[in-house]
Amino acid sequence: AIESVYAREILDSRGNPTVEVVLDTDDGAQGLGLVPSGASTGEAEAWERRDGDKSRYQGKGVLDAVKAVNEVIAPKVIGMDAADQRALDETMIELDGTPNKGKLGANAILGVSLAALYSSAESAGLPLYRYIGGTNGHILPVPNMNIMNGGAHADFATDIQEYMISPYGFDTYREALRAGVEVYHTLKGILKKDGHDTGLGDEGGFAPKMKSNEDSLKYIVKAIEAAGYEPGKQIGLCLDVASSEFYSKESNTYHFDGADRDAAYMLDYYKELVSKYPLVSIEDPYAEEDWDAWQKITAELGDQLQFVGDDLLVTNPKRLQKGIDLKAANSLLVKLNQIGSVTETLDAIELATENGFTSMVSHRSGETPDTTISDLAVAKNTRQIKTGAPARGERIAKYNRLLEIEEELGSTALYAGYSAFKACKQ
Ligand code: PGA
Ligand code: ZN
Repeated sequence: AIESVYAREILDSRGNPTVEVVLDTDDGAQGLGLVPSGASTGEAEAWERRDGDKSRYQGKGVLDAVKAVNEVIAPKVIGMDAADQRALDETMIELDGTPNKGKLGANAILGVSLAALYSSAESAGLPLYRYIGGTNGHILPVPNMNIMNGGAHADFATDIQEYMISPYGFDTYREALRAGVEVYHTLKGILKKDGHDTGLGDEGGFAPKMKSNEDSLKYIVKAIEAAGYEPGKQIGLCLDVASSEFYSKESNTYHFDGADRDAAYMLDYYKELVSKYPLVSIEDPYAEEDWDAWQKITAELGDQLQFVGDDLLVTNPKRLQKGIDLKAANSLLVKLNQIGSVTETLDAIELATENGFTSMVSHRSGETPDTTISDLAVAKNTRQIKTGAPARGERIAKYNRLLEIEEELGSTALYAGYSAFKACKQ
């Protein structure tokens, strides 16, 4: 049973406050819950509670969320069975009583939820992936590595937020990771040679000023080739357009490549990119409320290509059900803090799988050394993960955790490889 729950304010990878929860059980186990934080957040995400007190951390303090854990949640959950994750999460959801965790804060609830998960795995004497997935969880995900950053994650860079390489044409995760890392270093050299800045964005990718959004793709393909790999055959490309960030509701247009574009223009643009580059996945090609445009692109290209709903679906089973019903998107981006509890996150993955949607487990742009998403991807055999470039400790920790898991699984480990994407050309 849960003996104590204690929260404190710590810092995330951007130097902004976030919540850490330590949970102890009476069998001597201890779990740690570290909460991440986004920058290009979806409107429909669960509420991230911030103090708003401008005299501390420019209003970004989380002392109220910490207090909610220590004074409201702790007294309620102490004595409960930490391993009964669903009952624990439901108790906190009920205690909050709002549809978006708008009273206690998703950062407070998720901290406790994660801490309970870790303590339960420890009590069971199992690594996290095995505790969540049993022996069925054995597929190492393709690491979608965000090697060029733009949008809300970088200054003066592209409108498109994330340019990812997906090394699927390899036999093991270890080899796939190595290929991705080599492309990353090769890309740095090429950018430098062309006089570009090689400063990093929030997720560790390069963030140079480009002439157009397409320019970054040209550079990446060049880097894949120069590193000795075959674009499309061994390494594909994923985009996160994060288009809600440059969408105007009033005019129903997207401010892209320097002008206002309508949904039809964007569709033609995506089609052109797909014909020119080995793209296997596009995330948030349209804004979170532009359901018509989402339906159209999924109907036209969804048979071959993955369209990932991030801001659109926000890891929320209700939003996901709408996406399923409307045939808008065919893939779910999975972020624990978008919905705010472990149980609801697992429910969302299950709902996606039942309905033929793929799932890509994801970090946030503001992260901690926590590696839950690595274990989660293996436990649920999601076959895909995105956790930034192979740079910055908080991103590397997740990639390294997968190396550890692959080694632990030994001969039972399977690398997702080509099976991760329908668009893979073998
Ligand atoms: P965020 O970005 O964590 O800043 O929301 C990640 C994403 O959009 O996928
Ligand atoms: Zn996104």
